[in-house]
Amino acid sequence: MKLVTYALTGAFMLASTAAFAESHEAAEENTQQMTVEAALAGGDAAAGEKVFKKCKACHMIGEGAKTRTGPPLNNIVGTELGVFEGFTYSKGMVVLSDEGTVWTIENLNALLLKPRDFIEKTKMSFAGLKDEEDRANLIAYLATFTTVEADN
Ligand code: HEC
Repeated sequence: MKLVTYALTGAFMLASTAAFAESHEAAEENTQQMTVEAALAGGDAAAGEKVFKKCKACHMIGEGAKTRTGPPLNNIVGTELGVFEGFTYSKGMVVLSDEGTVWTIENLNALLLKPRDFIEKTKMSFAGLKDEEDRANLIAYLATFTTVEADN
């Protein structure tokens, strides 16, 4: 696990830059997101790793991550939603996926704030993270896993 972390540290700069570029347009029209983006700019992936403990009951991340109750969470930030083969998503996820929804920072922020509001009748039974800084740090943490060549 340590090895994985070291290997990914370099990739983090790249990954987060891409995520910023992608979310930039939407940020201009949405103050709430600008706050998230600002927080993410100082985004603390190490703090995000601690927040990820809340996700671990259902999600694995990193090399060799497998499906648990939820799909593995490699290559999430900036990529298409609901595309992990070998996981049966809820209908609500399939609809969003068919619409070509992408996990922008804005969408991840909305999911993490209240999964049930973002995905209709989602299988992800998680209340959400009220603390905006927690969400920003967590997204920064997820962004360090956008280049993992795992099963994803
Ligand atoms: C109780 C189990 C559970 C917990 C806790 C949980 N999730 Fe999920 N998660 C799921 C399930 C199940 C799905 C599939 C949702 C669906 O199909 O509606 C999912 C889907 C997702 C997706 C979409 C994946 C994709 O392939 O597009 C993301 C991103 C995600 N979760 C992030 C998180 C994060 C980050 C946390 C921690 C804050 C978390 N989840 C906590 C069960 C959980």
